[in-house]
Amino acid sequence: MTTPMKWIGLLATLVIVVILPFYMLNEPTQQEDLLKDYYTAAILTSTDIYAENCAVCHGAAGEGIADNPPLNSDAVRMMSESDLTKVITRGRDGTLMAGWAMEEGGIFTNPQVADLVTFIQQANWDYVAYRVDELGLTPPEVTQMEVSEDMLISLAALPGGETLSTGLVVYAENCAACHGSNGAGTVIAPAIDSADLRATPLEETIQLVNTGVPGTLMASWENMLVPEEISAVVDLIYRWPEMVQSGVEFPEVEVMTIASSPEMIAAGQQLFNVACKSCHGMDGYGTPMAPALNNQLFLSETPDAAIYQIIAGGISDTLMPAWGSRLSDQEIQSLVAFLRSMETTAPAILPPILSE
Ligand code: HEC
Ligand code: HEC
Ligand code: HEC
Repeated sequence: MTTPMKWIGLLATLVIVVILPFYMLNEPTQQEDLLKDYYTAAILTSTDIYAENCAVCHGAAGEGIADNPPLNSDAVRMMSESDLTKVITRGRDGTLMAGWAMEEGGIFTNPQVADLVTFIQQANWDYVAYRVDELGLTPPEVTQMEVSEDMLISLAALPGGETLSTGLVVYAENCAACHGSNGAGTVIAPAIDSADLRATPLEETIQLVNTGVPGTLMASWENMLVPEEISAVVDLIYRWPEMVQSGVEFPEVEVMTIASSPEMIAAGQQLFNVACKSCHGMDGYGTPMAPALNNQLFLSETPDAAIYQIIAGGISDTLMPAWGSRLSDQEIQSLVAFLRSMETTAPAILPPILSE
């Protein structure tokens, strides 16, 4: 009876005398390791968040683009944690810097914002640039759209020409960098010269430009442009085909076309069967889950850049996932090449009847 008790007593003493101090000695380094792991994980996750949401304005290496300030400067690194948290949470009124926290209509939880702050303070920007490139999210060169005298003269001849001219100047200065100098869209924003868009009521589009699309690069313009400028630019968007018909010449630029080769198409097809077929059906003919992509109307109306953007960014509030963080730039390009290769043989599919 007494022997086991003794053993237990001895064991307990052993634990206290031998094991515990040993454990306590190790405790600080264990905690340090945990802390280090935590920071590493936070920074890696934040790097991808940065690539997808911030690089487009602040640059792949945090160097800043046009009026968007650098984040890789000592000045920013030295900002207090609370100031950094504030600017990412709330944004800055009257600038392109939107509030990113959910409580401000953004897409990030407070812990995600906290991780972004740590990231900005500690980022290795060379690695960030490498990762942004790996994800295919290096922002395109910012193109300045020139509004020529000829364009303004052709516009002036149209009814309401003055509004159109105002709209064009607003567009060139504020929208062209993302939506393209010819309205055809870029890797980062959809085409603005779009029949679908023109089919939505004008007021809805004005509202969209006013408020922006939270959680996307489409900022709210209501504090940056006066109402007349917003209605003029929306008027311009709705009358885009009329302008083109009347001979206004838009610069033929940066409609990103994706190089294609038999190898890319084959790689794209293989990837399609793995990642897309379950929803979009065999050979892209569609299923009840997702529309046909092997579809004359879709392929003829959607430039490569826009298809790329849809695949990389997904379509919010639908089943269509964003693939940008899962597939490489090369892989997405091969998917575009594969889809494009079906254009000549794709069946004509009529647009759905718009229901009220
Ligand atoms: C649409 C462009 C745009 C995007 C996207 C964007 N920013 Fe900004 N950001 C800006 C602008 C413009 C400013 C400067 C605002 C001002 O004038 O005070 C800014 C300022 C900042 C600042 C403060 C810098 C300083 O010197 O005070 C931080 C930090 C910052 N952004 C982080 C981020 C993070 C993190 C993301 C992504 C989650 C992001 N930004 C996305 C445009 C953008
Ligand atoms: C920093 C890039 C950027 C800038 C600058 C920008 N946009 Fe956008 N815009 C976007 C993105 C991205 C979307 C798609 C948002 C989404 O996913 O719903 C969009 C969507 C839109 C849409 C809806 C398109 C559709 O088919 O539903 C309109 C209209 C629009 N923008 C107009 C404008 C106007 C007008 C300006 C200039 C005053 C402007 N945008 C400036 C990135 C931008
Ligand atoms: C979980 C189901 C699902 C998967 C997987 C999926 N998609 Fe989609 N996709 C959708 C849905 C649903 C839509 C239509 C969204 C809408 O209502 O606008 C869509 C729309 C699209 C569109 C735009 C079509 C149009 O008519 O505007 C393209 C392009 C596209 N998907 C490509 C792909 C590619 C490429 C893959 C594989 C990498 C893929 N999708 C995987 C569900 C899916």
